[in-house]
Amino acid sequence: MPQKKTEGQPQKGYPPQQRAGERPRRPGQPAAKKKLPWFRRLRARLRGLQFSRNIGIDLGTATVLVYMQGKGIVLQEPSVVAIDTNTDRILKVGKEAQQMLGRTPGNISAVRPLRDGVISQYDVTLKMIQYFIRKACGNLFFPPRVMICIPSGITEVEERAVLDAAHAAGAQKTYLIEEPKAAAIGAGLNIYAPEGNMVVDIGGGTTDVAVLSLGGVVVSESIKIAGDKFDEAIMRYVRRKYNVLIGERTAEAIKKHIGAVYDHPKAQTVEVKGRCLNKGLPKLVSISSKEMIEALAEPVTAILDAICSVIERTPPELLGDILKNGIVMTGGGSLLYGFDQLVTRVTGISTRVAEDAVSCVAIGTGKSLDHLDMLQEGAINLSRERKVRL
Ligand SMILES: Nc1ncnc2c1ncn2[C@@H]1O[C@H](COP(=O)(O)OP(=O)(O)OP(=O)(O)O)[C@@H](O)[C@H]1O
Ligand SMILES: [Mg+2]
Repeated sequence: MPQKKTEGQPQKGYPPQQRAGERPRRPGQPAAKKKLPWFRRLRARLRGLQFSRNIGIDLGTATVLVYMQGKGIVLQEPSVVAIDTNTDRILKVGKEAQQMLGRTPGNISAVRPLRDGVISQYDVTLKMIQYFIRKACGNLFFPPRVMICIPSGITEVEERAVLDAAHAAGAQKTYLIEEPKAAAIGAGLNIYAPEGNMVVDIGGGTTDVAVLSLGGVVVSESIKIAGDKFDEAIMRYVRRKYNVLIGERTAEAIKKHIGAVYDHPKAQTVEVKGRCLNKGLPKLVSISSKEMIEALAEPVTAILDAICSVIERTPPELLGDILKNGIVMTGGGSLLYGFDQLVTRVTGISTRVAEDAVSCVAIGTGKSLDHLDMLQEGAINLSRERKVRL
């Protein structure tokens, strides 16, 4: 009597789909896949061994910081690119290009390809990311997996531009993280706990205010008012009060030197050179830190409004946590003298500036590289998240 075939039991003889000339397969052995060339197989194997390094990039309007897993911050340079306008060739990137800002002859233009926290000149940004990835990783035989930090108010189109630029610049896989989330992680806050934490990141192009809990952003606001607008406000003030024209770099230097938003116990002054608008000749003026409060009033008020608006929209339970934990400020803009004191006075919530405020976002982006395998590659679909939040 013929034996009944049972499922899972090996069948006798070779499977019928075996092709002529093939080495006979053992019973139950799957059909052989088409072989890749040896160098492709070798590369796939080596990639599997994770020879490539994971890097985190804080693609800032003013500064780009690169964090390498296991090494920390390996690169910090201004986001400036010098281009030969006749040939469209990139001449310098970073520090060297910054020296050229405002001092270039006709055929060279020194530009900041990121404005207001987003890519305004795609091709230049792409070249800049490529330059920084190469500088940090050396050759790209094993392309890195890259985590890039983006402002929380970014649109889907802008998000796609960042992803495309990173891919074209040689990233193997690209992941995105929201700036306030990275800032909070970098400032040492435990954002994964079931309690509210509030962070205010004042960069060069954007100010991101967010309340985080259980690893996500609960309420947030991103405004395009930050360090660059402080510089413009100082330029306007000097022009209005002294009738003297100063450049962006001079305004930034004044801000870093004596910039204040709260009464300084010891008022400081700096001498500034500019061009007299009446006579057209150079003129020296002396500016004090007290005047800075008046000069910066407009952009600072806009930031305070954004903070208050986020507080108003924060669920009461989380607000209680924030009252207990306080507000943490990060980003270069938060280094203006007395910003934390001003926020404390306006909101009634104790506020502090994080240690190493400028590097917080890069450190946080770098720390999240440890969880890369749990994250989804590509766009984080902020717009969908935002719809849920509204
Ligand atoms: N000591 C300081 N006092 C005041 N402002 C400062 C100081 N140091 C840096 N800044 C300003 O901080 C800004 C840069 O900060 P940061 O590096 O956090 O910005 P970014 O990350 O490049 O920008 P964004 O996050 O908006 O894309 C610049 O406008 C710079 O002038
Ligand atoms: Mg930033």
